Amino acid sequence: MKCVVINGTEIKGCTYNLKEIFLDELKPSHLTEFYLPKDAPAYCTGCKLCFLKGENDCPHVEQVKPIGDAMRNADLIVFAYPVYVLRAPGQIKSLLDHFGVPWFAHRPDPTMFNKTVAIITQSIGAPNKDAPKDVRTSMEWLGVPTVKKIGFGLMEGVKWEEISEARRNKFESKIRNFARSF
Ligand SMILES: Cc1cc2nc3c(=O)[nH]c(=O)nc-3n(C[C@H](O)[C@H](O)[C@H](O)COP(=O)(O)O)c2cc1C
Repeated sequence: MKCVVINGTEIKGCTYNLKEIFLDELKPSHLTEFYLPKDAPAYCTGCKLCFLKGENDCPHVEQVKPIGDAMRNADLIVFAYPVYVLRAPGQIKSLLDHFGVPWFAHRPDPTMFNKTVAIITQSIGAPNKDAPKDVRTSMEWLGVPTVKKIGFGLMEGVKWEEISEARRNKFESKIRNFARSF
C-alpha cells in the first residue's frame, strides 16, 4: 500500500508517536511524509489563478505540487495533527485551501475517487469531534469515498513522556487496531 502522511506539526511529540505506531502496524510499501508548517504553502492569496488559468499558476506551486502529486500517487492519505483551539491547526486549513480546484463541483480529478483517508487527531482533554471536520469536508469534496478518523484525549499530560505507560499502552492498542482496518 502506498501511503502519504501529512503531519500537522513538526514536534516529535504525541501526534508523532501515535502516527509512528500507526505506520509500524500499517507497514506501507511506499511512504512519503510532509511536515507542516515547514512543508506547507503560504496562505492562499485569493489570486484565483488556479481557477482561472491552472493549478500550476498558483504562486505557491513549489510547495503545493509535491503534496498534490504524493496524494494522487498514494492509496492511503493520512492526516495526523494535534487539536488547536478545538479545530485543526491553521497550517492544515491553509493547505486544504490550495486544493479547491479539483473538488468534484469544479474540476474533478478521478484519481481521487479510489483513495482512502485516515485522520488521526489528539488533544489534551477536550473532545476531538470537530477537529477532523475541515479535512473530512475537503476530502469528500475531492471525491474520496472512504474517510476514517480516530481521536485521542491525552488527559494525563501534554508531553508523550508524561503519559503513564498504562495509558500509552491503551493508545497503542487502539491505534494498531485502527491501522489494521486499512
Ligand atoms: C495552540 C494550541 C492549541 C491547543 N488547543 C487545544 C484544545 O483546544 N483542546 C485540547 O484539549 N488541547 C489543545 N492543545 C493541545 C494539543 O492538542 C496537543 O495535545 C499538544 O499540543 C501535544 O501534541 P504534540 O506533542 O503532538 O505537539 C493545544 C495546543 C496548542 C499548541
